Amino acid sequence: MKTLKQYFQEAVSGKWAIGHFNFSTADQLKAFVEAAAEVKSPIMVGTSEGEADFVGREQAVALVKSYQNEGYTVFLNADHHKSWETIKAAIDTGYDTVLIDASKLPFEENIELTKRVVEYAKSINPEILVEGELGYLRGSSEVQEKIEISQADYTKPEEAADFVARTGVDRLAVVFGNIHGIVTEQEEHLDIGHLKKIVQAVPETPLVLHGASGLPADEIKMAIQNGIANVHINTELRVAYHDTLHEELEKEPKETTPYKYLKPSYEEMKRMIKKYLELFGSVGKI
Ligand code: G3H
Ligand code: ZN
Repeated sequence: MKTLKQYFQEAVSGKWAIGHFNFSTADQLKAFVEAAAEVKSPIMVGTSEGEADFVGREQAVALVKSYQNEGYTVFLNADHHKSWETIKAAIDTGYDTVLIDASKLPFEENIELTKRVVEYAKSINPEILVEGELGYLRGSSEVQEKIEISQADYTKPEEAADFVARTGVDRLAVVFGNIHGIVTEQEEHLDIGHLKKIVQAVPETPLVLHGASGLPADEIKMAIQNGIANVHINTELRVAYHDTLHEELEKEPKETTPYKYLKPSYEEMKRMIKKYLELFGSVGKI
């Protein structure tokens, strides 16, 4: 299997993106990994701090390793880990890659913590990739009514260049109109002009689009054509998993066998992942 670093190099030069999908149950993970394999696409799967607490870090690593050992091209990311303690636990447990999200800290403190994580991760295993985050990404991975979008929250290109040079991160999460979650009383749009300015400032660094749920597909595509190499989706999957399961339980109220009542949600996850991987241009890239 190629390394995640190699896949990122190929994604940047080929103008496609690696999909990143969050999971908190083994059947979701199975659906993601199988869907990606069926269309010959590499895939990243992630656990946030909350998802990792629920699945168990050791268990998440063991599950993903079991797929890797069977030849699946899947990489495990510690998504939005915010403290030294939680990110160190992910690195020590064997995650393939981590996101140290210190974006709520003042700029210099973000650099300090991110640099510490990069140095620690590489000392444990030089193959571990570290993502940093810069800019204020509002919202959370759920259905919300409205989220304020302000250019003041965007990643500043000159800060991005300074941040990458001083921390040594392998990829950078950026803000250019994106928010976490879905909003019901507002439209989500990306500022591609701003993304281009960030790319000019850090042309060598793979850039990450978080919060892709709720964005128009053509804007995600345009972002990938203009330098985004990694796209994160969570809320749309959570909502579909929940709604499909809810419908199934209403339809078959007497069914108590989990592998039977979970099957429609699992199939819906597979269908959605294939649709995203097609959009991101990663189909056939294994
Ligand atoms: O890190 C997770 C993603 O950024 C998810 O964002 O919930 O808006 O899809 P989303
Ligand atoms: Zn995110």
